[in-house]
Amino acid sequence: MEQAPTLPKTVLGIETSCDETAAAVLRLDSSGPDVLGEVIASQFDAHRAYGGVVPEIAARAHADVCDETVRAALKEAGVTLDEIDGFAATSGPGLIGGVMVGMMTAKALALATGKPFIGVNHLEGHALSPRLGEPVDFPYLLLLVSGGHCQFIRVEGLGRYHRLGSTIDDAVGEAFDKTAKTLGLGFPGGPAVEKCALNGDPTAIAFPRPLLDRPGLDMSFAGLKTAVLREAQSRELTADALADICASFQAAIRDVLVEKTRRAMQAHAQASAEETEHRFVIAGGVGANQMLRSALTDLCAEQGFSFHAPPLKWCTDNGAMIAYAGALRLINGLKSELSLAARPRWPLDEAAAASAPVFGGGKRGAKA
Ligand code: KG4
Ligand code: ZN
Repeated sequence: MEQAPTLPKTVLGIETSCDETAAAVLRLDSSGPDVLGEVIASQFDAHRAYGGVVPEIAARAHADVCDETVRAALKEAGVTLDEIDGFAATSGPGLIGGVMVGMMTAKALALATGKPFIGVNHLEGHALSPRLGEPVDFPYLLLLVSGGHCQFIRVEGLGRYHRLGSTIDDAVGEAFDKTAKTLGLGFPGGPAVEKCALNGDPTAIAFPRPLLDRPGLDMSFAGLKTAVLREAQSRELTADALADICASFQAAIRDVLVEKTRRAMQAHAQASAEETEHRFVIAGGVGANQMLRSALTDLCAEQGFSFHAPPLKWCTDNGAMIAYAGALRLINGLKSELSLAARPRWPLDEAAAASAPVFGGGKRGAKA
């Protein structure tokens, strides 16, 4: 008979699905997760000239630094390979060349040490990431907003995810990145747009609020991106104009996300009628946006939900969330075969994706 999984478990997590090579060592014990060491090597400089992530450049950059990133994370943690109980790596969705680099590294370490390999869905890493900072009980309503994804998920437990709605075209982070590119604000776009918006008037331009007039939880951001382009082409882009465009763009995103989240909260509350408390989580790179966080915090207060978000450093891609998901999988006996293949697409809720594939969530994003 298989032994019951025991705590603590120490897991190395590797993330290479987009433009960050990240590794972390995490110990999970009965009091929760503890990140012992973590290193993130960003490739922003390599992609800046192109205004977006170039898959081939990303894959090479991951291959160049993956081993030293892992070594540095182990060193920071003060942990040797012998002390690691399992090796986790993002196995999709993402840019396939990069995903393969991280997976091969984790598989090689697993093979060499005779320890388990755990393939982790990148989106599961984001979905569980708030629990790195504080205990958040299941179930919770998750708004996952990143460069490749924008979706509402009801998180019922490890591996139990139900998609309630998603973007039907661009991911919200993609809209931020393209807006920044149109306005010449640099890459990555989200933080640049957020900074520029601080000096602008959010009511200056009436950008569209796509799909707000329709029932349901699906979203669309492609039209907003085009509206920004049209506005930018119609006027001189002074510092004031840039700030007004950014602030008005963010206000449109905020209005859409707040209204759709209000509806998602109603759906979630109905599905968890037996729960005495309702929890809302925002995760993914766009979850670092302070304006959105504060609008959604207010909405939570209005709707009787508690608000949870990972600390800023764990909103964007990182190894800690992969190590955490890997550790939870390990203690639940969910290790992977070494033959596991990298998946460029890998929906969290495979059943919903199969029955309604049109709503894939950020289909055109770097990580779609
Ligand atoms: O989660 P993440 O690191 O990678 C994906 O899984 O896609 O998210 C990256 C995305 C990028 O589109 C980036 O522009 C956006 O998150 N982002 C932000 C902010 N920080 C990062 N968007 C808005 N405001 C921010 N402060
Ligand atoms: Zn991500």
